[in-house]
Amino acid sequence: MDYDPLDDSAKSYDAAIGAMRARHERIMDAGAARIEYVGASMLVQGDCSKILPVIGRVSAVVTDPPYGINISANPVRQKHSKKDWDAAPVGPDLLGQMRDMSDAQIIWGGNYFELPPSQGFLIWDKAQPQNFSLAQCELAWCSWGFPAKMFRRSVTSYDKEHPTQKPLDLMRWCLGFLRNPITVLDPFMGSGATGAAAVELGLKFIGIELDAEYFEVAARRIRQAEAQGGLFNPPPATEEESASLL
Ligand SMILES: C[S@@+](CC[C@H](N)C(=O)[O-])C[C@H]1O[C@@H](n2cnc3c(N)ncnc32)[C@H](O)[C@@H]1O
Repeated sequence: MDYDPLDDSAKSYDAAIGAMRARHERIMDAGAARIEYVGASMLVQGDCSKILPVIGRVSAVVTDPPYGINISANPVRQKHSKKDWDAAPVGPDLLGQMRDMSDAQIIWGGNYFELPPSQGFLIWDKAQPQNFSLAQCELAWCSWGFPAKMFRRSVTSYDKEHPTQKPLDLMRWCLGFLRNPITVLDPFMGSGATGAAAVELGLKFIGIELDAEYFEVAARRIRQAEAQGGLFNPPPATEEESASLL
């Protein structure tokens, strides 16, 4: 039989749509409250401990899980509604799952969790005075070894819609250290900083967030990033930095 390119592409399209539908159903069956698609990205409102087992493999997990220090109830963060999502740190089972399903991981607050020793870590210098009442810097554990890197950005220099919102340029910077990422997953999406940065860099993103209010904020920010198109070209790391990661 002669090869028919139109028939072939119609079959490929049907197969892709069928696979998407099946994945959508698996995620809803796992307990998701809703799923929103933004360009090539997928945003899930639900409990990541239930959703992760049905997501499949991704290039990288880049996330900022609950540290277990009740940060969202801190009186210094008066502006934000008090919620209890930070009462306990993310446990070893969930961390193990994130590591098994991805080629690389960048985990903010890695010093709070049970993770193996790694030479590779990133520091966010919050550019605050010595007598600043909160932490002056934060650490991200990386799953591969490289000389540690530091990013300086004032924690008080940007508006926040979430009590622990990371700056967008910090997230673009840290995504730039991944080698050939295609899909980035953040199971603790919060206000969507990882997602908006990933979309700006032209990456596919999967985000999961339990809280309906934060999910709305994340979805809006990621939709805005998608509407602006890929503004930034990866990798933001310099040639010297990239060479040092090989
Ligand atoms: C540290 S915050 C993430 C902040 C984020 N990096 C940002 O820039 O906005 C952690 C988030 O995880 C969410 N969360 C906690 N437990 C969760 C769970 N089991 N599944 C999904 N999200 C969860 C919380 O609601 C919170 O928004």
